[in-house]
Amino acid sequence: MTAQARNTRKLHVVTHGCQMNVYDSARMTDLLRPLGYETVDAPEGADMVILNTCHIRERAEEKVFSQLGRWRKLKEEQGGRMMIAVTGCVAQAEGEVLAKRAPFVDLVVGPQAYHRLPELIAAAHRKSGTVIDTDFPAEQKFDFLPDDAAPQGVVSFLSIQEGCDKFCSFCVVPYTRGAESSRPAASVLAEARRMVAGGAREIALLGQNVNAYHGEGPDGTVWSLARLVAELSEIAGLERLRYTTSHPNDMEDELIAAHGTNPKLMPFLHLPVQSGSDKILRAMNRKHDAAKFYRIIERLKTARPDIALSSDFIVGHPGETDEDFAATMKLVKDTGFALAYSFKYSPRPGTPAAGLPQIEVAVKDARLYELQAELRRQQYAFNDSKLGLTLPVLFTGPGRHANQQAARSGYMQPVVVEHPTDLTGQICEVEIIQSNPNSLLGRLVDKEKRAA
Ligand code: 5AD
Ligand code: SF4
Repeated sequence: MTAQARNTRKLHVVTHGCQMNVYDSARMTDLLRPLGYETVDAPEGADMVILNTCHIRERAEEKVFSQLGRWRKLKEEQGGRMMIAVTGCVAQAEGEVLAKRAPFVDLVVGPQAYHRLPELIAAAHRKSGTVIDTDFPAEQKFDFLPDDAAPQGVVSFLSIQEGCDKFCSFCVVPYTRGAESSRPAASVLAEARRMVAGGAREIALLGQNVNAYHGEGPDGTVWSLARLVAELSEIAGLERLRYTTSHPNDMEDELIAAHGTNPKLMPFLHLPVQSGSDKILRAMNRKHDAAKFYRIIERLKTARPDIALSSDFIVGHPGETDEDFAATMKLVKDTGFALAYSFKYSPRPGTPAAGLPQIEVAVKDARLYELQAELRRQQYAFNDSKLGLTLPVLFTGPGRHANQQAARSGYMQPVVVEHPTDLTGQICEVEIIQSNPNSLLGRLVDKEKRAA
């Protein structure tokens, strides 16, 4: 056995929730690699396991504790030689509770403290009991992340902004992720260049409130997301850019205009509206009304007529009447979405709406059913609208079956193309010959006519 192999430790990471968490898990892995940790697909025999949690979904804590229960058994079987860490938003919100209910957990680390993981692991080795770090340190965690991130592939995620100051009535993010903060533009540009050198063709910029981005520019001025996107577009070899998730109030003119003028900015926007009722939007503390959302959509469609729209909806927020729900259905029908996520309101402890009288579960169920039927119909209609068109698609890897390649349209649709050889990383023109509810089937038109 070489010294290298002897020093290798096994790390198993399980990620719940959004793309931000997927990104954070990858960064934690990067941080631990220099300490000899290599990722493994199963927890059995691991020296360290990390559960990166999400607090947004219903029964988030239950999921966390049932996962931890399984790991506790493994830890016992391994004679206690397995460090268990809980990270992410549940760690942030429930740090003390977690340590009490699951004292076999060695480390509880909030999203703002990941850069301190190596020292926290050392502290956990020295100390019995749970080490908790859920502070919001003054220093920016972005500045402490390592430069040698493992390549993510053709489509890469890049976190540029964290946290939120908006305090929607239903949402835990301002409490778990802290105040809104933006990563300096030079650091974003440097990471994007590294990603492209490592094979990325598409970069998705991530942030809980990504269009509120206001990072320090290399010239000392404050850069908006529009400015950052414009500068990123100059990187040779980077063909596609996206950003998620946005708030309607931060959809600035320059950003809307960029959708019409910047060919690298993909014709897709995820813009959560949550409700179509002004009364409920007020109760949600969204600070915009339905009319403002309509205006933004109109201007986006003027700038980029084929833009695909996506959104988030909540049904059954406290106070929502049948009329309020009808206003949401009207907004959905008026707008037309290519994709959307919809949820039953679920009270999150500590948030303002959790303390209000709640809507009956059966009412929420019925509203969600009706909304999702309409959203599904719109998604199918959107996919159908591409039938017969020739579109540039980015090949992301082999498909599920032999002789198939997986790709993605600019509108975020998965596209399957029959082709015997690997086309990963190429952008080619493909004729859409079949439309399915969740994907498209395409035929390579002319491999030589590729756009990249
Ligand atoms: N209940 C239901 N849905 C929620 N979301 C956030 N908090 C809650 C909650 N308490 C939804 C919102 C948000 C998406 C990420 O999750 O629609 O945009
Ligand atoms: Fe949560 Fe988004 Fe509202 Fe911020 S803007 S509080 S992240 S729903």
